[in-house]
Amino acid sequence: MAIATGILAVNAAFLRDIKDDNRRLHDLLDETNRLFASTNSVEGKTRRVVNVLVELRDQLALHFALEEAYGYFEDALESTPSLTERAEKLRSQHRELFVELCGMVDQAEQGLYHENPKANCVPLEERFQRFLGDLRQHEAREVDMIMEALSNDVGVGD
Ligand SMILES: [Fe+2]
Repeated sequence: MAIATGILAVNAAFLRDIKDDNRRLHDLLDETNRLFASTNSVEGKTRRVVNVLVELRDQLALHFALEEAYGYFEDALESTPSLTERAEKLRSQHRELFVELCGMVDQAEQGLYHENPKANCVPLEERFQRFLGDLRQHEAREVDMIMEALSNDVGVGD
């Protein structure tokens, strides 16, 4: 298990590029949102919800992996304490958000295979709305951090 001992900083230019390039993630979030709001039959919707949530989970895993591989870096030579603190908090949110999305996939699959989908549909929709709000807030805070890093010219690794 890796133990972080250095200063965590952000590669603001890479992090911004990763966000700008990930159109598929935003399309999937919009698609999932529309699907929950649609008036299709509950059974048909539940099957499609499982499929779109699985695809969303895979896309989010890729997005976070890219951010962590290229957008954040350990052992920076310098960073402002406030930036390091924000970077640590935001990076740690990746796991929380991903675990929540995995939980929604499990819940959707239970509705599809073992339980009455109608009983599951509304709570899952509320759970998704909360997740969507949390993810958007996370993304907005990372954009704020990118702007601060760029304006400070601290933590930019290229
Ligand atoms: Fe992120």
